[in-house]
Amino acid sequence: MAITRREGLHALAGLATAALPGASAAAATLADDASTGTAPAGGLQALAATRGLRVGSCFAWSRPDADRGSFANPAYAALLLRDCGLLVPENEMKWQAIRPSATRFDLARLDAMIDWADEARLPVRGHNLLWHQPKWMPAWEETHDFGANPSRAAHDLLVTHVDTVCKRYGARIRSYDVVNEAVNPADGTLYDTALSRALGSPQATLDLAFHAARAAAPHAQLVYNDYMSWEPGNATHRAGVLRLLEGFKARGVPVDALGVQSHLVTQGVDARASVQALEGEWRRFLDAVTAMGYGLVVTELDVRDNALPADIAVRDRAVAEFTRGYLDIMLSYPSLRDVLLWGMTDRYSWIEGFEPRKDKLPRRPCPYDAAFRAKPMRAAIAAAIAAAPPRA
Ligand code: G3I
Repeated sequence: MAITRREGLHALAGLATAALPGASAAAATLADDASTGTAPAGGLQALAATRGLRVGSCFAWSRPDADRGSFANPAYAALLLRDCGLLVPENEMKWQAIRPSATRFDLARLDAMIDWADEARLPVRGHNLLWHQPKWMPAWEETHDFGANPSRAAHDLLVTHVDTVCKRYGARIRSYDVVNEAVNPADGTLYDTALSRALGSPQATLDLAFHAARAAAPHAQLVYNDYMSWEPGNATHRAGVLRLLEGFKARGVPVDALGVQSHLVTQGVDARASVQALEGEWRRFLDAVTAMGYGLVVTELDVRDNALPADIAVRDRAVAEFTRGYLDIMLSYPSLRDVLLWGMTDRYSWIEGFEPRKDKLPRRPCPYDAAFRAKPMRAAIAAAIAAAPPRA
């Protein structure tokens, strides 16, 4: 019987997992998970495909022996190969990673990731071409000398960036977060950076990024990606994003979809009640976005287990129910076809480092736990996908 390249990679991942200290338990539990009763019978992507959907995750680059959420970590690769139909580099396409100076690009790690994904026949989204905040631009950019004609120099700096990435990967990348998090959640205005000051305004900078992306990657879905969410405290952020999207439409800027990051935050033990309380206002936002003709992509789903007790079973149940309620709403919008998780396992989630729990207990934001065992959240994602109206 012929073995596909993907099956070959999967087999290799399994073999290597067994040889990796500390990861053999993960390999065992991938096949079965008695602790939660949520044994993954088939991959999430296999299920998603029956609904015309794709499910995916971020992934990282690392050395082969590193305990990271990387394709080169066989235990993590096995999760990607089991459940995903789409991948996105967590950090390796950001300016900070690939643009060490105005004149240099370093794409070696990104190349390696995309080569691996190609080998596995897994499409890759691009994240991102411009994270438009001073904090997330490389340090050199904020002190860059834009010279005698700053507007021209800034234009060239940005267009060169978009061109270099889009043309290098060509049709291998069919969806980009062109602009990431340009709206200040505190007041809904657009952030300035040294780049946008040189170019004249943040609006001109964002518009240029999208026009340059359309020219360099005419085949690709172009996404504005942000973390305005449905929990209380996000109204100003949502309003700012709506204003930005209205402006893009009015000016004819080529933006195809809103990336709804979906870094969710549980509101209490009764997650169904939370969903009911949040649904109305959230739908009004999504309705306004889709009424303008934008598609939706869930780009970075994970769940912060706030306002929940220490008990793991209680936390996992609330996270799963919150996720299910959220995905049911999102999947009721027919333009939504792609759901990406911001990590498959709690072991490598960014949240632990950025916002630990107040009681210092490890966070549980992902569908697999730190030992790679499937959690109720995985079953909730599978159930939401299974219940989704099929796409053509
Ligand atoms: O790789 C370096 C390492 O060499 C160095 O020793 C270490 C010391 O701090 O830093 C490492 O880089 C870190 C990188 O993650 C890789 O682990 C950066 O400090 C850290 O800031 C970076 O955080 C990432 C963050 O974006 C900022 O880029 C998170 O992993 C990543 O999950 C997070 O992702 C963002 C999305 O891009 C946009 N939406 C929100 C989301 C969560 O914040």
